[in-house]
Amino acid sequence: MKTLQLSSALALAYAGLTAAYPNILAELESQKKASGLKHRAAGIFDAASQLVDVSGAHAFTPPGSGDQRGPCPGLNALANHNYLPHNGVGTIDQFIESTTSVFGMGVDLATILAVYGAAIDGNLLEWSIGGPTPNVPSINLLGQPQGISGSHNKYEGDASPTRGDLYVDGQDYLLKMKNFQALYDAGKADDNYDLQLLTDRRAARFQENIDGNPYFFNAPFSGVIAQPAAWSFIYRFMGNKSAEYPAGKLDGEVLKSFYAITGEDGNFTYTPGYERIPENWYTRNQLDPYDVLFLNQDTTFQLLQHLEFASIGGNTGTPNSFVGVDPEELTDGVFNAQTLTQGNNLMCYGLQLAVQELPDLLSGVVTNLASAVNQVSSAFGNATEKLGCPELTKINQDQFTKYPGYTKLKSDGTY
Ligand code: HEM
Ligand SMILES: *[C@@H]1O[C@H](CO)[C@@H](O)[C@H](O)[C@H]1NC(C)=O
Ligand SMILES: *[C@@H]1O[C@H](CO)[C@@H](O)[C@H](O)[C@H]1NC(C)=O
Ligand SMILES: *[C@@H]1O[C@H](CO)[C@@H](O)[C@H](O)[C@H]1NC(C)=O
Repeated sequence: MKTLQLSSALALAYAGLTAAYPNILAELESQKKASGLKHRAAGIFDAASQLVDVSGAHAFTPPGSGDQRGPCPGLNALANHNYLPHNGVGTIDQFIESTTSVFGMGVDLATILAVYGAAIDGNLLEWSIGGPTPNVPSINLLGQPQGISGSHNKYEGDASPTRGDLYVDGQDYLLKMKNFQALYDAGKADDNYDLQLLTDRRAARFQENIDGNPYFFNAPFSGVIAQPAAWSFIYRFMGNKSAEYPAGKLDGEVLKSFYAITGEDGNFTYTPGYERIPENWYTRNQLDPYDVLFLNQDTTFQLLQHLEFASIGGNTGTPNSFVGVDPEELTDGVFNAQTLTQGNNLMCYGLQLAVQELPDLLSGVVTNLASAVNQVSSAFGNATEKLGCPELTKINQDQFTKYPGYTKLKSDGTY
C-alpha cells in the first residue's frame, strides 16, 4: 500500500504534495489574484434588500428547554431569529429556504448541505441542528437520529474554528474559549477578520490536531467539504456588507454576536445557543450567491497555501502519526496529488468520495439503503455535473481501516 508517511503536516506539504506539484507558487499567485474582492459580482450593494430583519417575528429569542442548538453558529442564529423553526428541527426545504434568503447561500450548496444533513443526521426528511430529539421521529431508520452534534467525522469534524475536538475535549459542538480567543486575537489589531487570517488559523488548528489528537481523522466530507466551508463561511457569511465593502468586512463585535460571546476582551462570556444576528447587519446580495463554485475557489485558495488540507487521512492512534491516503490509490487513479489542486477537482474529490462512502456509513442505520443513497447522489450529482467532475464510480474503502478515528465512528451508531 502506497502512503504518504510523514511526521507532520508541514513535512507532508513540503515533502509530499509539493514535490508532486512544482508550480505551486505560481498557481498560488494566480489564485490569489482571482479570488477575494475581485470576485465577479462583488461590487453589488443594495441596502434595502440586504438589511436583515431582526425585529418583530424575527427578534432574537434564545432557545428554551428542549430546543436544539449545536455546532453551527449560522443555523443556531437562524433558529434564534425564527428563520428556522425555533425548536432547531427543520425539513430539507426549510434549510434551503432560510440559508439562501438570510445568508445568500447558493441553492446548489444549500441543497448539498441540507440533503446530506437529512441522510447523515436525520430521518431523510428533517434533522436536528443539535442532538437527538423526539421532534425528529425515527421513521426510515433503524435507530434514533443523532442530529449534527452526533455526527462526528461524518458531518462534524475536528479542527473546526472554535468547537471542541471530540476525543480531546469530550465534546464537538460547544465553543471552546481557547479557540475563540485565538481567533479573536488574530484579528483584533486591525479589527478585521478576512480569508487570509482564517486560512492561517485553520492551519494552526489542523496542526494542533496532528500534534495532540491521537484520533484526528480528516474525513472526505467533514474534512474536505465541511471544514473549509466552516472557515470560509465566517468571512463570507458573517461579514457585514456595505457600499464601501460590498464583499463584506467582518469586525470583532459582529464576530462575537454570531458566536454568542459577550463581555470585553480578556473576560469573554460564552452563552451556548445564544448566537445572534446583529442589529443593522447587511447580508450578501441575492445576485451574488455563495455557491459551490465560489466555495471551491475559497477552498482551493486555502489548499494552495496548505497542501495538507487535501490530505484525507489522520493520526494512527498516537499524536504526530499523521498518514495521508494517496488519492491515486483511493480513487484508482481518477484523482492524484497533482490534479487535486487544479480546477474544481478538490470539491469533486470531497463530494464524490462522500457519495461513495455513504453505503458504508448508512448500512445498519436506514431501512431503505438504496433510496437514501439515491437521494444524496442525486443532489450531489447535480453539483458535480456543474463542476465538470471526472467520473468516480468506486473507492478503495480499505484505505481507511488504519485510522482509529474512522473505525471508532463505525463501531457504534453515533460517533
Ligand atoms: C444547511 C446549511 C448548513 C449546514 C448543514 C451546516 C452544518 C454545519 C456543521 C455540521 C458544522 C460543524 C462542522 C465542523 O465541526 O467542522 C458547521 C460549522 C459551522 N457553520 Fe454551518 N451549516 C450550514 C449553514 C451555515 C451558514 C448559513 C453559516 C453562516 C454563518 C454557517 C457557519 C458555520 C461556521 C462559522 C461553522 C464553524 C463553527 C466553529 O467551529 O466555530 N453554517 N456547520
Ligand atoms: C467579567 O465579566 C463578568 C460578566 O460579564 C463581570 O461580572 C465581571 O465584572 C467582569 N470582570 C472584569 C474584571 O471585567
Ligand atoms: C454594517 O455596515 C454599515 C455601513 O458601514 C454600518 O452602518 C452598520 O452599522 C454595520 N453593521 C454592523 C452590525 O456592524
Ligand atoms: C437535480 O436536478 C434535477 C434536474 O434539474 C432536478 O429535477 C432534481 O430535483 C435535482 N435534485 C436535487 C436533489 O436537487
